[in-house]
Amino acid sequence: MLTDRHFVSEAPSTEARAAPGEAGSTTVSGDSHSLFRLVRDIRAGRDITGLHGGPALANRELARVLERGEPALAPAPRGSVFAWDGPWTGEVRFLPRERLLSAPERAAALRAFTGVLDTGAFTSGPAVGAFEAALAEFLGVPHAVATSSGTDALIIALRAVGVGHGDNVILPANSFAATENAVLACGARPVLADVGDDYTLDPDSVAERITGRTKAVLPVHLHGKLTDLSGLRAVCDRHGAALVEDACQAIGVTGVGQHADAAALSFNPYKNFGLCGKAGAVVTRVPELAERSRAVSYHGFSPDVKNVKSELLGFNAGIDNTQAEIALGLLPYLTLGNYRRLFLAARYLDGLADLAASGAIRLPEFTPDHAWHLFPVQVEPAAGPRDALKDRLWAEHRVETDVYYPVLTHRQHPVSDAGLSPSRPLFHTERLHSRVLHLPLHKALSIAEQNRTIEALHDCVRSR
Ligand SMILES: Cc1ncc(COP(=O)(O)O)c(C=O)c1O
Repeated sequence: MLTDRHFVSEAPSTEARAAPGEAGSTTVSGDSHSLFRLVRDIRAGRDITGLHGGPALANRELARVLERGEPALAPAPRGSVFAWDGPWTGEVRFLPRERLLSAPERAAALRAFTGVLDTGAFTSGPAVGAFEAALAEFLGVPHAVATSSGTDALIIALRAVGVGHGDNVILPANSFAATENAVLACGARPVLADVGDDYTLDPDSVAERITGRTKAVLPVHLHGKLTDLSGLRAVCDRHGAALVEDACQAIGVTGVGQHADAAALSFNPYKNFGLCGKAGAVVTRVPELAERSRAVSYHGFSPDVKNVKSELLGFNAGIDNTQAEIALGLLPYLTLGNYRRLFLAARYLDGLADLAASGAIRLPEFTPDHAWHLFPVQVEPAAGPRDALKDRLWAEHRVETDVYYPVLTHRQHPVSDAGLSPSRPLFHTERLHSRVLHLPLHKALSIAEQNRTIEALHDCVRSR
């Protein structure tokens, strides 16, 4: 039976805690480094009194939890932030859609939507700028341009750095199709490079493939794990290529948007910050790129002059005011959701450590630069074939797992038929992909469901 040795702790008393700004008070700023420290201290059983949430709107609900002195340490009592209070069918589903929004989030979204209905400001309106400002503040990046999806954010960011017909863009082969589609939409050629053990683009592999025709490098922070951006930046700088992050799975990770030319985010309902429809954003430190992104996001029109073009080509791809209003309503829950993911990821790592030690599986590392959008394990030969394990988890334990992107980019027929297969093999990408299994990890996963998943994996490996 799984124990919660590292995760059960007395809730600190309210009286003992220092007020914000007082000696002994520490601010949890909401980025992945500070959440990592919080979860690490909880795991180590350290005293975590005196914690306060940072000022950004995105941190508001985590701040409330911290200020009540109960960052949900108890395993699963009702009322814990890890308790699911709706009906549980007894099945552990990979990503149950009806749980994407909690009851308070649903209420916030409804209030936001009702407010828009009263004004009729459905497409353009004041919430767009307000949301962009709140997002930029949270990420610590000066410019945010909100878009109609993460895919559009990628296309816009690539266009803004000048990617066009005949250019090459280097990217990994293990992402969602949106990544290569954004390159294709610009008329450019996707060039696939290999990844490292953490599933993200390997700077050495990029260095082997970069040429004078490479206009940009497009790393994907897969699963929420930040790519080695300083390594990539050095390669890009040597060749005059732009660096654009696909950060669609990585909102909240410290450094997103701060080292590259631009980063693209997704707010589709399944992401760490999921809205009630499609949305995304381009974030950048560079004022000219922000200006170009804004123009490209709306028909090439100059941001300052109505219906006068400053770019040849632009799209109708800005965020709707309706969705931006909902985003403002949901933003206060973002860091609490990211905290839950980090906490649950750490708990998986503890609960599965013995299976990793026995060589049955390989686990991801618990690092501060991760938003845990997905939790991947590598199923090693000692645990039998990956797909058989996946089937048994469901058939015998009703635990649903997934291989999130079942076909690598270059194994998709239209891609290989178009002559876009990599010229050199992607050994690491192929190996990781043949063994990866994604376990349920979402912000409404309960401790009981996670325990069931951990125990089911043990049972399947033991009784093989
Ligand atoms: C890595 C990655 N890139 C791009 C996208 C595209 O985002 P969206 O669905 O908002 O267009 C997604 C999400 O689906 C993604 O996970």
